[in-house]
Parts: sequence; structure tokens; C-alpha cells
Amino acid sequence: MNRVFVTRAVPGDALDHLRSAGCAVDLWPVEQPPSWEELAERIAGADGAMTMVSDPINDLMLEGAPMLQVIANVAVGYDNVDLESASRRGIWVTNTPGVLAETVADFTFALLLSAARRVAESDRRTREHGWGAWSPTAFVGPDVFGATLGIIGMGEIGEAVARRARGFNMRVLYTSRTRKPGVEQQGLAEWASMDDLLGQADFVSLHTPLTPETRRFFGTDQLAHMKRSAILVNTARGGVIDQDALVQAIENGKIAGAALDVAEPEPLPLDHRLYSFDNVLITPHIGSASLATRSKMARMAAENILAVFRGERPPNPVNEPAPRNPRPDTGG
Ligand code: DGY
Repeated sequence: MNRVFVTRAVPGDALDHLRSAGCAVDLWPVEQPPSWEELAERIAGADGAMTMVSDPINDLMLEGAPMLQVIANVAVGYDNVDLESASRRGIWVTNTPGVLAETVADFTFALLLSAARRVAESDRRTREHGWGAWSPTAFVGPDVFGATLGIIGMGEIGEAVARRARGFNMRVLYTSRTRKPGVEQQGLAEWASMDDLLGQADFVSLHTPLTPETRRFFGTDQLAHMKRSAILVNTARGGVIDQDALVQAIENGKIAGAALDVAEPEPLPLDHRLYSFDNVLITPHIGSASLATRSKMARMAAENILAVFRGERPPNPVNEPAPRNPRPDTGG
């Protein structure tokens, strides 16, 4: 019987699906994630693992997991997994593309609107200090309607954000690793150099994966090129921003604010300077957190695991693992 370690409770029918296919599901029993040592210990005896973006899977951990055939990340990103190590050890790594872009795009817009129109800030102030007198100057912010949006990274999510921007009559500029003729032909966004985009955008939204090339790519220079009135939105990965530079930029009024669903590290410690600014909105990495989408993501992860157990290529691989040695003889 194949044993699958699942690092957190997931919504939907994914775990029942694994069980009904004959797997023994070892579900981490509490909300608090396993420590690295606990993760290593549970993965050591598993044939498959269903993991989350917050589970760091490194070479040392994989060295101690000789039975492991597949790591199915319940996420489209997989920067938490040492891909090279997994591939070398013959372990499939899979992700969940194609199901979360619309949900994350909704949330990107929620952050953008909330930061512009000061939703979270005014709610917080009202709860803490009462409603107060109505004032024509209270909580004023920029219009979203008709503003210019700069999208950095035009993948599935960037495109879904651009589609939403159309409804707000926004001008959309984008820059990306490669140009997207389809996006341009549909009139969803215009290509711009990074400097042009930063110089013109009222809102800058990041949608790049975290890779060695994108790590901290958004730093002092990029922040300095933004308009002082502009707001930065990040639903990608905390690691793509140089957070110290962002703190400086906010402190010195170089940009008008930021809305961050991701940070480095996660969880962001409560004494972090970013929490001290009223014009920085922080949510705990919930971009894909609709019930339907999270259920679909977990189900996809289960399908990936089961395909590997059947000896098939999984539907959503992100690596090409080396051929495996025969499974170690566990005796018995
Ligand atoms: C992803 O899928 O990579 C998200 O960040 C997790 O919700």
C-alpha cells in the first residue's frame, strides 16, 4: 500500500480520492505546519507527499526519503522544492497550473482596490477609534477607474488581471520575459520597457515566479522609477521584492503604498517594519484561497500522485526525473 504524507488538511475530496485508490494517507494533524525535522521524519517513510508552498523540501530531506516517488505541490509555484535534487533522485515534482489564475486575479484586484480606496485601513481605524465625523478629506485615495496599470510578468495570472482591468477602463502596460502577441492582439495590454512601465503606472502588479533570476529583482532602482503616487501590488512571491528597499521607499514617501499577499519570510514576523505603515496592506498568502479553487488544486495534486503510483507520467510535472533505481527492499 502506497503511503502519502499530506502536510496540511486540504478542502474537497482529494484525500478521499487517494484513500479510495488504496493509499494510506498520513495527514499532518494540526493547523500549525510541521517543522523541518517533522517534515523530514514523515517524508522519510512516504511514497508520495502532498506539500504546500510553505514546506521547504531540500536535498537533505530527500536524501532521507528513499521511497519517495512524487512531491505534489498544492500550488502553481514550486520554489519551495529543490528541483535539482528531486530530479537527480528520480522523484517527480508536480504543480497545479490552469486552475487558480482567475481566483488569484480576483484577489489581486481586491488588494489593488483596497489599497487605493483604503478599505482595510479605514476598517481598522473605525474599529479602533470609532466612526468619527464625516469629512471630505478622510481616507481619500486615487481612482482605480481610468488609471494605468503596469503588469510585470504576463503569464496566466497577469493576463487574468489585465482582463479585469478592462472593466475598470484602465490602460494596461506590461513587461514580461517574452512578448505576448495574443494579449496585445486582444487589446488587453501594451508592451512597455520596464522603465516606461514604472514611469507611467499608477498601480504596478507583480506576477513573476520566484527563480534565481527574479530573486529580489524589484529593488531600489525599480522603486525609484515608480511614480510617487503609485501603489505596488504583489501576489507573486515575497522573494521577488527587496523588502528592505521597499521599507525605505515607503518610509521616504517614494511610492504611495503597497499591498502584499506574500512576504519573505512567511509568516512575516509581527515585529517587521512593514506592519508599521498604514499605507502597507498585508494579507497572509491567500491569493488562491477560494474554496472551489483550493479544492481543485488539492484534487489535481492527488491525481498527480496517483498517476506516478500507476507508473505513468503525471499530468502536471515540473521536472524530468532521472530513472529510478528499483525500490529498496524493505523486507517483510
Ligand atoms: C501558488 O499556487 O503558487 C500560490 O502562491 C499558492 O496559493
